[in-house]
Amino acid sequence: MYRVGQKEVDAIAKVLLSGKLFRYHRGGECDRFERRYARFLGVKHVCMASSGTTALTAALVGLGIGPGDEVLVPACTYMATPVSVLAAGAIPVVVDIDETITLSPEAVEQAVGPRTRAVIPVHMWGLACNMTAIMRIARKRELLVVEDACQGVGGAYKGRMLGSIGHAGVFSFNYYKNMTCGEGGAVVTNDDYVAGRARCAVDCCSFYWTGRGKGPVSFVSNGSRASEIEGAMLNVQLDRIGSIVRALRRQKKRILRETADTGLKATPSNSPDYECGSHVMYTLPTEGQADGFAALAGGTVAGKTGRHVYTQWDPIFAHRGAHHPALNPFKLPQNRRCRKRYTKGMCAASLDILNRTVMMGTHPDRRRDRVTQVIKRIKAAAAEVLGPGSSGKKRR
Ligand SMILES: Cc1ncc(COP(=O)(O)O)c(C=O)c1O
Repeated sequence: MYRVGQKEVDAIAKVLLSGKLFRYHRGGECDRFERRYARFLGVKHVCMASSGTTALTAALVGLGIGPGDEVLVPACTYMATPVSVLAAGAIPVVVDIDETITLSPEAVEQAVGPRTRAVIPVHMWGLACNMTAIMRIARKRELLVVEDACQGVGGAYKGRMLGSIGHAGVFSFNYYKNMTCGEGGAVVTNDDYVAGRARCAVDCCSFYWTGRGKGPVSFVSNGSRASEIEGAMLNVQLDRIGSIVRALRRQKKRILRETADTGLKATPSNSPDYECGSHVMYTLPTEGQADGFAALAGGTVAGKTGRHVYTQWDPIFAHRGAHHPALNPFKLPQNRRCRKRYTKGMCAASLDILNRTVMMGTHPDRRRDRVTQVIKRIKAAAAEVLGPGSSGKKRR
């Protein structure tokens, strides 16, 4: 949560006092947010949901992913990404990332098998995936692309908004995200049919409110409808996101520029001018140096956040893919030929990269002198950890 103030309080109070908390009514806040966010992203449809997880599931269901399908997911993401694949009845196949900390296009190409129907590039920690290469492979291998932009709200890839490039995109608006309403999410797409199915996946009774016969035939789904309180807050947050992301990018660029002569290697970026800028990242030569640098500089080793690496996905490793064995995608006959073997060492190259990458969060309201202190700390830590060869001064 970056910036929340009186405007959010007023917008929520107005909804509460109106007594109109349910989203389906003329002039509603959710409708307004969906229209405005679609314009902001340059897409045709936005469908709000209760979370990024439910939105991811709705996107996959919207695209028709289900039992018998494999979906490629990166080795570094929050567990919600592979969980959404299982929630759709399909099987996640874990694929290496590269030094950009996002899905490796080469690994995607190699991982495509006869059952692979889709790929989920994740714009992790505000970084942009190599969407040019991923879309090229997707076209060649006939894959559907769902961008997980849950951590990429407000960011772009070479001028195109994250989430707007694949067949569908997904956002989270939970407390930790660039734009928040406490908990929330959205599916976005340009495809009318996919949007209709996604709306049904979010709210199987949506046809009561929006009109029978207007969308695709409805089906039974779990409820994950957004409320007007979330819509009201997001309408205010949307006014703020542009300046937030500009401030994050500026801060990241300053830190990277002023630490460029330390011997530290900035983690390569697929779109440095357009990504969110929410994290400054360095790739260290060894894991030991990354640990030491993180401790001294006040950073976090990307492989050691405790929840963003495939090795932490306990229920998936245990093949507990649903609450009931008969619904467990790992046991479904349609998934018999899908690849379901997960081992801790299966993406060793990703673990090596993640354990050598150190990240530090930026903040849009950090004052200039505080950023100067951060830069000083990074320089001192680099000198200490990289030793001779680094151009920073050695700390005594
Ligand atoms: C990459 C990624 N995907 C999906 C999600 C799921 O979003 P939510 O927590 O809103 O369900 C998150 C949330 O942390 C995330 O970081």
